Amino acid sequence: MQTAFEMEPRARALTADQKDYLFPWVRPYYSEPLALSSGEGVWVRDVEGDEYLDLFAGILTTSLGHCHPAVLDAVGTQMGKLGHTSALYVTEGQIEAARSLAEITPGALRSTCFTNSGTEAVESAIAAARLYTGQHEIVALRLAYSGRSTLTSHMTAQGAWRLPGGGVDGVVHARSPYSYRSPVGGGPEATSFFIDDLVEVIETTTGGKPAAFFAETIQGVAGVIVPPPDYFQQAAEVIRSYGGLFISDEVQAGFGRSGEQWFAIQHWGVEPDLMVMAKGIANGYPVGATVARPEIAETWQGPSISTYGGNPISMAAMRATLDVMKSENVPSRAAERGAQLRAGLEALRSSYGWIGDVRGMGLMQGIEIVTDRESKTPDGDRTGALLEAAREERLLIGRGGLNGHVIRIGPSLLITEDELAEGVRRLQSACRRADG
Ligand SMILES: Cc1ncc(COP(=O)(O)O)c(C=O)c1O
Repeated sequence: MQTAFEMEPRARALTADQKDYLFPWVRPYYSEPLALSSGEGVWVRDVEGDEYLDLFAGILTTSLGHCHPAVLDAVGTQMGKLGHTSALYVTEGQIEAARSLAEITPGALRSTCFTNSGTEAVESAIAAARLYTGQHEIVALRLAYSGRSTLTSHMTAQGAWRLPGGGVDGVVHARSPYSYRSPVGGGPEATSFFIDDLVEVIETTTGGKPAAFFAETIQGVAGVIVPPPDYFQQAAEVIRSYGGLFISDEVQAGFGRSGEQWFAIQHWGVEPDLMVMAKGIANGYPVGATVARPEIAETWQGPSISTYGGNPISMAAMRATLDVMKSENVPSRAAERGAQLRAGLEALRSSYGWIGDVRGMGLMQGIEIVTDRESKTPDGDRTGALLEAAREERLLIGRGGLNGHVIRIGPSLLITEDELAEGVRRLQSACRRADG
């Protein structure tokens, strides 16, 4: 197995200073943290000048790659023009960003409010759903990750990610549509198994009138959990039959990442009532967006404000990001490169008995690591070793899963065929190191 990475002096000094000055929850990956200083496309450099191939993109966020010239240009121009206004004034940039979003969101979704993070986008969606329905309870999914505020950390359903000190009122959790670990597997009975649980949770743990069902279309932090194909159709029908709204969280899976479609929910022909987005929306600049049907947005008259929400610089970054995404047709690129990545991961699975499952859509893929395929016991230790081994290979990948036992891959949507092939080669070498 992999030995600990030898840290260079500059990185060691920065890591010591980080410990001194930052909260300990600001916790970097790796036994010897990696200090990055620059990036271009899918490549990043550490403070010592070593180059890494980035297949995790700052948690699926630098959707066009690091320092994309069109985004740099738009941000630079905007900074020299008007850097901040607050939401008290009208700016063209914010309106055009919302228009640009409405062009690609499904169905009647059209009205947007901008914030600065996924957490705030989720908070805004929940508030809007509660105002519109006049109801309070929220049905979320187990294994969800929804953010770090009090509400969203308790919509999150992985113990380690919750803020300490009990839950919040009015949030219940249905079973995650996690076929690999469900007693019925991923076969034809899977959907009814998960849907029956959703109904039972509503019937037994709510007053029968939930405000909304809230779900990530592909559960990311949970380890790239893709639901059975008819799951969301049926889940949306269920929540609407109880008078609630369906909110889809596209923070990770949105903006073409799942391949072919702009948003993952579109694969299953479902029109959500609200949608939340962040991460890849602005190539790393802080933007959260909550998009709603206009009549839902209409019920939230305020007052409410986000000082930085819709900030001109963030909006310029977002518009430039969406423009490039549209002109490069990233959904179809992600489908093509996703198929290439998936083939590479499946080949690894056929070589190593400790790879229990390979799953995902487009350029959002996961590898579930187990002690053996028979018992399916999650193997967080080997996953940690694989993460470190990948770093030795100068390859950045991510980690997730309740037991830290899933490798997550989500590179720039503009990654080329050669770059991805190189990434798969490095991952193969890392697997060899972690084997044994
Ligand atoms: C699916 C999902 N929703 C919401 C969030 C919260 O986003 P942020 O970290 O920008 O607050 C995350 C963050 O990882 C996420 O993955």
